[in-house]
Amino acid sequence: MTTTPTEPRPSAVTPPAASLIATLAGRYYTDPEIFRQEQDLIFERLWCCAVRSADLDRPGAFRTVQIGRESVLITRNRAGELRAFLNICRHRGAQLCTEESGQVRRNLQCPYHAWTYDLDGRLVAAPNLQKMPDIDRTERALVTVPLREWLGYAWVCLADEPPSFEDSVIGAAVERLGDAAAIDRYRTEDLALGRRVSYDVRANWKLIVENFMECYHCATIHPELTDVLPEFADGFAAQYYVGHGAEFAAQAQGFTVDGSAGFGRLPGIEDSQDRRYYAVTVRPQVFINLVPDHVILHRMFPTAPDRTVVECDWLYLPEVIDSGADVAKSVELFHRVNVQDFDACERTQPAMDSRAYRDGGVLVPSEHHIGAFHHWLTAQLEDGRA
Ligand code: FES
Ligand code: FE
Repeated sequence: MTTTPTEPRPSAVTPPAASLIATLAGRYYTDPEIFRQEQDLIFERLWCCAVRSADLDRPGAFRTVQIGRESVLITRNRAGELRAFLNICRHRGAQLCTEESGQVRRNLQCPYHAWTYDLDGRLVAAPNLQKMPDIDRTERALVTVPLREWLGYAWVCLADEPPSFEDSVIGAAVERLGDAAAIDRYRTEDLALGRRVSYDVRANWKLIVENFMECYHCATIHPELTDVLPEFADGFAAQYYVGHGAEFAAQAQGFTVDGSAGFGRLPGIEDSQDRRYYAVTVRPQVFINLVPDHVILHRMFPTAPDRTVVECDWLYLPEVIDSGADVAKSVELFHRVNVQDFDACERTQPAMDSRAYRDGGVLVPSEHHIGAFHHWLTAQLEDGRA
């Protein structure tokens, strides 16, 4: 069913206003100093979604990720718990794990002078350690990074005093999605990975967030998505309304690239969530997309003012993956959306340096909720500087 303009809309995040709102100025997307402040005051202070817990499926499995300006090493200890550390040897600062992922047999050993740490970060061995009584093994342990698990992912926070995870991550997502979407009913933590695609996007991370938040572009660049979600052709994104799920087209059997049937409904969701798509941004770097038979989760890792790595996971019921079912048509829909979106962001990035964008652009009424993101961003930077 398409939504007609005469139908009442669900309650809006920000009421539509007649006036236009200015965007951020172009330099916010190009200036290395602003990017440095964002790394310092946003990505190194807030909870960031780092890795999928199940990717580290046994003790000694590790993954390194770039959070802000730090390399963070996440591993599973002998007790089966996830641990996060700064990926820096406490001897003379060499990077401990140089691979993006891997498996150690017993301990983590620095490739420089072979200082060795156990999977809880304790310094357990070093050449001639017994002849160096001044080395305090406790003091020279790896620097621990706070870690929490939610939705089957490990979230880490580099702040000395991390904000409340319950409020700033779970509470914020639940509030933005609303009760109607009830994210916990999708039981994301029990799902299995069907596909992962890593996108190297030549654009500032904020262009990617802003693009994800609006659907003014959907009719122009997302033909496959608007076939399945015709109300997106109106230009109003699901994120515009708290708890509003975009309804599937009558002819769409599933959330697939050609509208063909997907898989069985996730067991926990309710009838009201069936045949609907919900989306939420968990600031600063996660997008969650909920459909009846799978969940799509994006994690962003900004590496430069004009470059962002986006890792996108498609998650299904374990029995779907175990059965060897072909997820290609299911994956292809949002993969195309990703490529279409990231192409648009890459086309926009060079213009951020133009004098035409020195004072920025404008947000039309259906994009006004992006203004809240800009307010949040500038408040984070101002509060942090203060
Ligand atoms: Fe790691 Fe020397 S820097 S052992
Ligand atoms: Fe899009």
